Amino acid sequence: MNNHRVPKLEDVAKLAGVSKATVSHVLNRRGYLSQKTITKVENAVRQLNYHPNTVARQLYKQKTNIIGMIFPSVDNPFFCQLEAEIEHYLDKEGYRVLMCNSKNDPEKEERYLKNLLTHQIDGLIIGSHNQHLQGYQHRELPIVAIDKNINENVPVVSSDNYQGGVLATHRLIADGCRHIFHTNGPLDFDSPTQERRRAFEQVMAENNLPAITYHLSLTATFEDKVSVFNQLFIEHPEVDGIFAANDMDASLLISLAKKFGKQVPEDLKIIGYDGANTTRFLRPELTTIKQPIDQIAKVAVQLLLARIDHCPVQSVVLPVSIVNGTTA
Ligand code: RIB
Repeated sequence: MNNHRVPKLEDVAKLAGVSKATVSHVLNRRGYLSQKTITKVENAVRQLNYHPNTVARQLYKQKTNIIGMIFPSVDNPFFCQLEAEIEHYLDKEGYRVLMCNSKNDPEKEERYLKNLLTHQIDGLIIGSHNQHLQGYQHRELPIVAIDKNINENVPVVSSDNYQGGVLATHRLIADGCRHIFHTNGPLDFDSPTQERRRAFEQVMAENNLPAITYHLSLTATFEDKVSVFNQLFIEHPEVDGIFAANDMDASLLISLAKKFGKQVPEDLKIIGYDGANTTRFLRPELTTIKQPIDQIAKVAVQLLLARIDHCPVQSVVLPVSIVNGTTA
């Protein structure tokens, strides 16, 4: 290149051995980039003493008004309602969504993340269950998490899981239950939802009762759950109270109890967690801890829009309530 000509973006691309789009992604910290690529481009920029065209950068940084959403399910009543409410609030603000159903598959989630990051989304709301994915460490992209701890830069919106666990366990003890069990996800899942189990353990200890939790994998199938719950009934025929960490599991436990000769609530009290609209249609009898799903969606969108506008935000914990059915 003529040493007197002002270096252009294509000169950087040629020297670094990458495309012009890749150079632009590196300079704007957009897209999924390996450290090797970032280093090659930055070395070329320094060697050529290249300074990006400001107008081009402003054009490139223009908003797309697209928000990515990654959740583990689109057929779970809680996530269904949450995703629909998030889309509703984003639509009111003029945003469209790119919805990704990760099905708790880390490879699929990582692939979705790469796709989203190259689609120039303006922000991301995630409630999936996979941990430690590289793409979430993106320095520039505004991200808000629901029920999931990512890192100190990503605010989390959740219900008051601890208070929910206290309410549920107190209810079972008040019902006269003394052989109470809890069902929840894996112990190593870094999520505020672990607080449901911690509250259960705390209240049981305060009442001098043993606290036993049956843990389920995040990728547990229906058959896996039946097997684990059958084991609970086989190993503990004395069970008289169960606090399930979500309503789908609570509903399955109600169905399985009959197989083991237990009538709900006469012989066995069951309380769930979520309180989604669909569940209340299908299991109106279920006593459960109701998450403020509409409010979780609204606050998650508010936090994301604030982050898109470079405003500082904090994590938010929202109060829960108990929905009285007949199962506890
Ligand atoms: O039912 C799905 C569960 O996964 C909900 O309790 C929600 O909080 C998430 O943890």
